[in-house]
Formats: sequence, C-alpha cells, structure tokens
Amino acid sequence: MTIKLNQPIKPNLEKLTKYIEQVNDSGWYTNFGPLHQQLTQRLEAYLGVENLLLVSNGTLALQVAYKALNVKSALTTPFSFVATASSLIWQGIETSFSDIDKKSYNLCPKQVQKVLDNDSNVDTIVATHVYGNPCDINRFDDIGKKYNINIIYDASHAFAVNVDGKSVLSFGDASTLSFHATKVFHTVEGGAIVFKRKADFERAKRLINFGIDDNGNITEAGINAKLNEYQCAVGLSLLDEIDNIVEHRATLFEYYRDELKHYVDMPLWFDSSSFNGAYMAISLKNKDIKELLVNELKIHNIQSRSYFSPSLESIFNKSKDYGVENSRQIVESVLCLPLHFYMTISDVDAVVKVVKKVVGEI
Ligand SMILES: Cc1ncc(COP(=O)(O)O)c(C=O)c1O
Repeated sequence: MTIKLNQPIKPNLEKLTKYIEQVNDSGWYTNFGPLHQQLTQRLEAYLGVENLLLVSNGTLALQVAYKALNVKSALTTPFSFVATASSLIWQGIETSFSDIDKKSYNLCPKQVQKVLDNDSNVDTIVATHVYGNPCDINRFDDIGKKYNINIIYDASHAFAVNVDGKSVLSFGDASTLSFHATKVFHTVEGGAIVFKRKADFERAKRLINFGIDDNGNITEAGINAKLNEYQCAVGLSLLDEIDNIVEHRATLFEYYRDELKHYVDMPLWFDSSSFNGAYMAISLKNKDIKELLVNELKIHNIQSRSYFSPSLESIFNKSKDYGVENSRQIVESVLCLPLHFYMTISDVDAVVKVVKKVVGEI
C-alpha cells in the first residue's frame, strides 16, 4: 500500500446529500445563495473573524485582495507556492522578492525593513504563513504602521491556526485562504479573504461579482470569483467534522516532529501558535541526501514532495530580488513527508523509519 503525500477529505455522503437537496430545492445555485451565507457565518464563527468573503479559489483570493487594497508595488517571499507571486505578476503589479528567515522559512522582517529603507515605492508586503507556521506577525504589524503600507498574508496553509488563542487571520490588512481539495479544509476548489476593514470587504464583494453593487449598479471593473452553492455544500459537510480533522492532523504532526527532532532540521514554529498539521516539512543537510531519501521512500511506496521549489525569483524575469540566499538554500534541502487525515500513527512510524535509516547512515 502506498502512503500518499496527501489525500482530500471525503465529505460524509449523507450530510452532503442533505445540503445538496437544499440547493436543488431552493433552485439558487450561485450568487451568494443560502448555503453561501451559512458557510460564511459558520466559518466566521469557527475561525473567530469578521469580514470573511468566500471566493472561487485561493489564487483569486490573492488577486481580489490586491485589487481591493490598490496594490501597485509589492515585496514578497520567494519561498511559497507559485500563486503567491504569479498572481501579483498576472495583475501587472511591480514585484520584488526579499529573503526568508533561515529558521522559520517565512519572510524575514529584518530583511524587509532593509529593503523598505531603500525602496520607497513598495506599498504592500505579501507574506506567506508557510506550512501554517505564522510569520512574525508583531514585527510585520510594526512595519505596516511605520512605513504606512499594507500587510497581506497568504494564509492558504493556516486554516484554524491561532496565536495566543487568536486567529492568525486577524492580523494584517487582509489574509487569504485556499480551500483547494488538498487543504485542511476544502470546498473542492475555493478560498476566502478575511479583511481587517469592512469597507475593503464591501468593495471586494462587489469586485468578485463583476463590480455590481447591491442595487445592481456597476461601480467599477470587476471579475467573477463567486463560490457556488454546490461547493458550499461540500464545505458545510466538512465543517461539521472540522475539530476532529484538525486535531488528528495536529497529532500526527506533533508525533512526526517529536520522532524526527534529532535527525533532521524542521521549520522553527512561531511561539504560542497552535498547529493544524497542514504539512510535514523537513530539511536535509543537502540536495544529495534529499535525493537519497526520496529514492528510499519511493522504494517503500511512500510519496514525498519538494515543496516549495524553485525559489520564485528565479521564475519571473521581470521581478527584482534583494538577495534571497536563504530561500535558494532551503529549496534545495526541503522535503514534505506524507500528512493527511487518513493516515495513522503506524503510517507515520513507517515513514519515520525510512528517514531515520537514510539520515542515520550518513
Ligand atoms: C501558499 C499558497 N498560495 C496560494 C495557493 C493557491 O490556492 P488555489 O489552489 O486555491 O488557487 C496555494 C494552493 O495551492 C498555496 O499553497
């Protein structure tokens, strides 16, 4: 049996059918229907946030956030999924990269500050909570205020993560989520934006519906980024099980980390943050050891993935970088191990055994 890297959570069929019957009965398939409203309210309550706007995927969540906050020139991380940066470039936003912190793998506030002291053009920081590990939110808060710029978090990995009991989504001017099938919580395809300010939320709500306001007037050029009722049915079915899902993933994650702590490097987690078990990332001493491990895992039918790779500044030749050495090193050595809801502790043991064997022999 293969131990898969990830496996989408299957909604309970009975529950899903009930929600789908509601959609069929109402005849309201999209355009902010009853399930959309229900899912919005339940997510806001579960996550402890306000101004949450559901959208059709995590990439559009980023793009709409950039539009709603009038982003013209962004400084971002080279160590993220490609969408964090490609969405900026797609929108014609001036894009530059600053290095990550060697320990957390998140955008480094110290480096950001250095760039800002020399580049007065930047109006927005786009930082990813990599693997669900919160960025240095307090330092970025200070930076946002000091330089009067937007802070947008790509929180695609950070569903249900709290810092000191408060949702990580409540930091910054906006945070975006992906509800892609592989995420901790999903709607097959989908996403959300959490805005700090109501006015930004209201504008974004018009933007995702062609720029049309509640009175039917077209206020500006918009796009179609609405989440439909059938996808909301999947989300609502899964939300009924979410505590169980997050708890199980977090248990596997903590078990992995405990077992591997003397063998490999792992991202240093933000103090006082909860875990959602979104990804299990390790870092090997170098590229060759990583290759050895990938091959040995393959022999044991265990999937793994170099996530993220490559360092994003290397893809986009129109962008600028301010030195990204840490990111270039981490992409060479980082590897994500299997972690999903359907895994058991004995699956983790099987993976750990291979890692210990390969790393222990070197
Ligand atoms: C960090 C990050 N940003 C953005 C995205 C894009 O999300 P989506 O696939 O929902 O468009 C993803 C997901 O794949 C991601 O992992």
